[in-house]
Amino acid sequence: MTKQAYSFNTVKKVHFITGITISLFISTHLLNQATILLGEDWYQIFMSAARIVYRNILVESILLLGVLLQVFSGIKLLRKKWKRQLSVYDKLFIYSGLYLSFFLLAHVAAVLSTRYFFELDTNLYFGTAVLNTFPHVLFFAPYYGMAIIAFFTHLACIYRIKKLSNKAPNLSKINRQANFIIGFSLLLTVLILSRMIYCIEIPLEYQY
Ligand code: HEM
Repeated sequence: MTKQAYSFNTVKKVHFITGITISLFISTHLLNQATILLGEDWYQIFMSAARIVYRNILVESILLLGVLLQVFSGIKLLRKKWKRQLSVYDKLFIYSGLYLSFFLLAHVAAVLSTRYFFELDTNLYFGTAVLNTFPHVLFFAPYYGMAIIAFFTHLACIYRIKKLSNKAPNLSKINRQANFIIGFSLLLTVLILSRMIYCIEIPLEYQY
């Protein structure tokens, strides 16, 4: 194996391992956002339970390092993929990855600065205060919405690639399944954001 192929495989492994690690958190986190459909109390109960696992120095450090490694390894892998002829799903894969990279860095920076500089608990009201006010909502609704859709789209494209590498794959069935995952994320996004925009009252200390 050449030195170049070896370092490419290492970057791929790093991307895979950090991808699995942060996907576990993101799936739990998105499930937490979805509990808003049941009510604010459910959101808070779920968050308090999930925080027992992730809000400690060890897990948060792994998560933050994972986000950084995921973004940088993803950008490195992208350079190789970009040179090939791209299908619609390749493009969706690349653009969803690029948007997730931007969003993860911006979102984690916002969470940490709110916690440490403004000394506010980063709870439901931190997340939704920007959705609840005009004109902030014009930026933050697409900002959050595209992140949820990008996460599912990225996973749908990985699922498609894995399925296509099987023996005698059924292309149209696999494409339908990938489209279903993406379509589901659109519906979920509309439901979560509508609830956050229209149904939550923001306490004074979180208001803009
Ligand atoms: C409606 C959409 C979203 C809202 C309202 C939201 C809100 C929040 C809140 C309130 C926190 C702080 C959690 C805590 O203090 O326990 C947080 C953290 C975080 N969110 Fe989101 N989030 C959303 C979507 C996403 C998406 C789509 C991703 C990833 C693709 C994501 C990734 C993260 C990460 C990595 C953290 C940092 C965890 C930590 O180190 O404590 N979020 N988000």
